[in-house]
Formats: sequence, structure tokens, C-alpha cells
Amino acid sequence: MSELETKSVTNPPVAAIASLAAHVGDTVTLRGWLYNMRESGKLLFPIFRDGTGTIQGIVSRDSTPPAAPSEVFLRVKSLTQESSVIVTGRVRADARAPSGFELDVANLEIVHLVPTDAPYPITPKEHGTDFLMEHRHLWMRTPRQSAILRIRATIMRAAQEYFDTHGFVRTDPPILTPAACEGTSTLFALDYFGDPAFLTQSGQLYIEATALALGKVYSFGPTFRAEKSKTRRHLTEFWMIEPEVAFMDLDGDMDLAEAFLTHIVSRVLELHRADLKLIGRDIAKLEAVIAPLPSESEIEAVILSEARSAESKDPDESRPAATAGTFSTTNPHAPRFPRLSYDEAHEMLEAAFKAGKLEAPHIYGDDLGSPDETYISSQFDRPVMIHRYPAASKAFYMQPDPADPTKALCVDVLAPEGYGEIIGGSQRVDSYDLLRARILEHNLPLAAFEWYLDLRRYGSVPHSGFGMGIERAVAWICGLDHVRETIPFPRTLNRIYP
Ligand code: 4AD
Ligand code: MG
Repeated sequence: MSELETKSVTNPPVAAIASLAAHVGDTVTLRGWLYNMRESGKLLFPIFRDGTGTIQGIVSRDSTPPAAPSEVFLRVKSLTQESSVIVTGRVRADARAPSGFELDVANLEIVHLVPTDAPYPITPKEHGTDFLMEHRHLWMRTPRQSAILRIRATIMRAAQEYFDTHGFVRTDPPILTPAACEGTSTLFALDYFGDPAFLTQSGQLYIEATALALGKVYSFGPTFRAEKSKTRRHLTEFWMIEPEVAFMDLDGDMDLAEAFLTHIVSRVLELHRADLKLIGRDIAKLEAVIAPLPSESEIEAVILSEARSAESKDPDESRPAATAGTFSTTNPHAPRFPRLSYDEAHEMLEAAFKAGKLEAPHIYGDDLGSPDETYISSQFDRPVMIHRYPAASKAFYMQPDPADPTKALCVDVLAPEGYGEIIGGSQRVDSYDLLRARILEHNLPLAAFEWYLDLRRYGSVPHSGFGMGIERAVAWICGLDHVRETIPFPRTLNRIYP
């Protein structure tokens, strides 16, 4: 039995559609639902789904009219879409079938027949997004949506697996919190026995405490943002995985993010080629993300030639888009993603605006807007890291860059192909005096942060971490237009049903 199969009370054992390759020539029993059915002359072609995949069955009428067709034929013919069934049949390899197999149906038991006067609402014809979202509880049964949810599960597992196998301890922060982490305007407030409380926006502040207790930690759980944003990247409830490491600086944080993302993409490629194909993902684009880099000598050659061309250039001329020349060489173990400072990103956006590739100019000092992120991330075939944003536009807890204190030691990782930010992280302020001043500057209630200041009173160390929103990662890896398809029941500005 494969790990996909479950023990059944029926005999012979129940097989999973995804494991049928191991059962060619065998008679198997499947349990699932009728996804769709085609009829052709004396043949019925029911397509069954069981959550692991779909398979086409074949049933023939057996006898020539006017003689009565077989009982199995009649039973299959009576099936309505999404009726639940137990099917027995022989697995046959068939190169023409999408899954590579077909099932010669020998027997079929109906578990529940969907009545014809109240049919399944989602038909294989096209439906609008609103209708599908209203029926999300059923929409997820379609092969494409099921495949996305399977890939999501692997992304979540691979993300945890990376930390679990690299010396991190999982520490879960609270979801009910007394204060803001990422800015007060985006909190969901609630009444906590008469006191105000909020749903957490990030576990970061709490795992800074656990990192100073345990060294390398991570958290993984739901987080909430109340910003009234309707973009295709925003959910009000999403899952964030966040590592936090004592004695790690921003460079270490970027190295960690690289190795972490590489592991996740590798795992998805290893386990989900069929699902990626089913949803129409260009697999070569994901392979490019984890492809080995050019050798050190090749990178050096690029850096040297860039340096030479920079020397020979008029200094006023705007810098070309950063490419292989900006690969960091600090982490010899992981593939390297391009790293751009905010200033370099700004130059890139200015050039794009002048060239008519961006509608609005990027104002120096502002955060990157969605169109800016989309533009930058569509220039690279790997995730790109933008570091050292102006401190004024960033969170209170970010460490200033000693080389230029107007900049924060922070990083956003933008997924390629225009997907934009999937990771946000930083080195944290480790000085008590500076952190206290920052809390006051940001008009945050000092009393609520006394415990957080304690982390700088007792054995403060440089420390860093980041957060990745699972749904943003799923949208990118699956190549989806909108985060609403990346989570079983998305919560957005306009929707909290079903
Ligand atoms: O960049 P953000 O706001 O960073 C933090 O919350 C830090 N405290 C994390 C840390 O350093 N430990 O959010 C981190 C990530 C984003 O890059 C994005 O992937 C995701 O969380 N995210 C959202 N995903 C979906 N919908 C939203 N409204 C999101 N807001 C953030
Ligand atoms: Mg961010």
C-alpha cells in the first residue's frame, strides 16, 4: 500500500488514483466522486476523482439493442455530477489518457446520488469568479483547485522541514495580542474582557524573545491584516512562517531566505510535476530558480567586466539593470539570488519610467508600490532581494545601517515573473536607547512594549529574521493571478463567506 492509500472496510483494498502506476493490470477499488462523463455510442467514459487525481473509466453497454444493457452500464449512466461512488475495475496503461491510465469498470456502487432536480451547481462550463468564490466549498473539488491545495500543503511542509532540519525550534507566538507589530492602522481590534486586544499581524516580536532564549527559532501560524486593500496580493487572514536567529545579521538573513526558498521550490518540483502540469505552470521557470549558478570564476568574470564597463562610463549615465554581477558571494552553499539595494532599485524604476515601462514615477523615499515590485520582479528569473530601504518608511524595530543611518537593515524578497514581495525581513534594533526612542517616535504605547525592551536590557545581541506569507509563495510557485485561489477559504476585504 502506498502512503496515499487508506485502509478500507471493503475488499479488495482501496487504491488512490495517484498511485495507480503501481497497479497496472490489477483489479482495484477506488472511492470517490463522478467528476464528469462523456458518452459515445455504446460506451460511457466516466471521469472519477478521489482527491489525489482523476481517472477516466470505460464502461460498455455489453449487449446489442434491443437486448437490455448491463446493470453496471445503467448504474453508471444514471450518475450525476459529484455523486459519490465506489468503483472496481482493471487498471490499463493508456498513453492517450491524461493520467496515463484508464479503468475498465467492472462494478460500481453508488454511495450518494446527487438528485437530478437539484444538480451540482458548478458545471464544467465557465463560471464567473464571484460565483466560484460563493461556492468555494465546492469549487475546491475541481482538479485544478485540488492540485493547488496539494501544492500548498507541500510548500507548508517544506517550509517547516527546512527549519526543523537546520537546528530551529518551533515556538508559537500568541494570536491575541495587546499591541501592534507592523503598524497600528492595519489591526483587527477586539474586546478582551473589557480591555482592547488585537489579532496578531506577525509573530515577530514574540519570537525575538524565544530566539534570545533558544537561539534559532521559527513560528508558523495565521496572521491578520485589516488594511482595506483589494489587490490580488492581499488577504485579511493569511499564514506566515517566520524564522528569528540570535547573532545573525542582515547578510545572514538574506542567505537564510535564499536557502529556504530553494528548498521549498526543490521539494515542489520533486513531488508535484503532475500537479504543476495540470494547472498549466511553466515548470522551466521554477527549474531556473534552483538551477546551479555559473561557477565562481564565471561570476568573477561577470563582476570584473561590469566593474570595467562601470569605470569607463559617464558617471551620470544611469546604471544598467543589475544582473549576475550583483550576486552575493557570501553564501557558498546555496544558489544565489540577485541582491539590489533600494537605491539601485530606485534607479531601475526611474529608468523604466523614462522608457515608458511604468505609468507612475517611483518617488525616492517611498516604499515600492505593487507596479514597482511587479516591474522589478519581472526583470529576473530568480527571486530578487531588495535591501536597505529608507528607514522612514519602515517599521520601528529595524536596525539602522551603520554605513548610512537613514537606511534600514531590511530586505524584501520579490518573487520573479512579476509576483512581487513574498518575504519581508530585517535585522532588529538591539540598542535599548534607540529602540525606546523609536517606540516613542512611532507613538506606540511604551507600557505595552516593556517586555520587548527587556530583550535589550538583558543580554541584547544583534538578531534578524523574516516572514514569508504562504499564500504569496503559493501564488508564485503555482503561477496564479490572485491569492484567493491559494488558501482553502480566503478572507478578503469583501468576503467572509463561506
Ligand atoms: O512584510 P511583512 O509585513 O513583515 C512582517 O510582518 C515582519 N514582522 C516579518 C518578520 O520579519 N518576521 O509581512 C511578511 C510577509 C510578506 O512578505 C507577505 O508574503 C506576507 O507576509 N503578507 C501578506 N500576505 C497576504 N496578504 C497580506 N495582506 C499580507 N501582508 C503580508
Ligand atoms: Mg513587507
